[in-house]
Amino acid sequence: MTSANTPRTLLGGLTPAQFLSQHWQKSPLLIRGALPDLVSPLEPDDLAGLACEEGIEARLVEEHGPEKPWQVSHGPFDDATFSRLPSSGWSLLVQAVDHYVPEVAELLEAFDFVPSWRLDDVMVSYAPPGGSVGAHVDQYDVFLLQASGKRRWQLGGSPGDQAQLIAGIDLRILEDFSVEAGQEWVLEPGDMLYLPPGVAHHGISESDDCMTFSIGFRAPSADEIVTGFADYIGEQLGDDRRYGDADLQPPLHVGELDDQAIARVRELLLDAIDRPEQMAQWFGRAMTQPKYLDQVVPAESATAPSALRASLERGDRLSRSPGSRFAWRRQDESQAILFVDGDAILCDPELARYLAAETCIDAGVLDYPESERVLAALVDSGSLSSADEEDEVSGSGEIL
Ligand code: SIN
Ligand code: CO
Repeated sequence: MTSANTPRTLLGGLTPAQFLSQHWQKSPLLIRGALPDLVSPLEPDDLAGLACEEGIEARLVEEHGPEKPWQVSHGPFDDATFSRLPSSGWSLLVQAVDHYVPEVAELLEAFDFVPSWRLDDVMVSYAPPGGSVGAHVDQYDVFLLQASGKRRWQLGGSPGDQAQLIAGIDLRILEDFSVEAGQEWVLEPGDMLYLPPGVAHHGISESDDCMTFSIGFRAPSADEIVTGFADYIGEQLGDDRRYGDADLQPPLHVGELDDQAIARVRELLLDAIDRPEQMAQWFGRAMTQPKYLDQVVPAESATAPSALRASLERGDRLSRSPGSRFAWRRQDESQAILFVDGDAILCDPELARYLAAETCIDAGVLDYPESERVLAALVDSGSLSSADEEDEVSGSGEIL
């Protein structure tokens, strides 16, 4: 369990409780030596290798692109792309590297002071000296961890939604960006910068091995919440439930939508959505939706719970499939809802807690009631798989 009141090097000596109350969603924090012994688990060439693979989300940002300034192109790339690039003025960004490189996924375990379902992914960027993605604002919290080389970070306050953006380009780059006094630092390996949503920032590479890991969080927009929940609850509302006006009085003007009509529709709407249990059911599903649906591949044949028990007893282990997301909610003393990859299973609360916390599952899980039934369902859906079958990062030659 997270120790809320123990100071952490990762948080610059703040306790998780202090970090959350002073900085989380509020103000930036520069942390020198957040991971003092960090050695980047991948090289720039490994990143380029990932960017050449089918199904991996990769972007190349070129400040002076072949067609326009700040041009963005999408992977998969090939050797020819990298060999035509100039010596500066570009960045390579690869999304969800934690799904492909287990050592990058392991880094996320240190961020257990925020619920795991808030984590989105680790984006890794590489830029030669002078390269950047321009000054911009993100809508989500991010920890910018310098994994190798140096990057200069400049912060420019909170410009708000109305800030002018450069027109006619692929990126949302701020037209006006000025560095605030004292808000500029060069980060070295192991240093980290936390930014809450809405802070203008600009990160420029200062070395030919500059790699930055962006540990990003997910937070659905109000639009996504309203439309997502409306779709979910809408399917459960019968067609016979309709706008009703048994209290109708003769209208003063035949075409007028009067206050009573609006009050009736408001009451129907509020009554339909004010359902905390369904809201939890929907939210758990929504927050565990995998980032890439095709990464969770259902098993070809059904797993017998008894066979699964026998295999765990023999010493085999299961692990969460890369990209799989778990969360849980207690219903009562004996039952919880385990949310996995957008689905829900009822199970014992201690089993739900264990499965949502552990990344590697061994025979210890069999002590929980009905664990083999739940595990078999998760193996069938592709959310759990044998821990010994994990893919290695594909090798890469000299690309950059
Ligand atoms: C980068 O790593 O180049 C950009 C990360 C960010 O600004 O969010
Ligand atoms: Co950013």
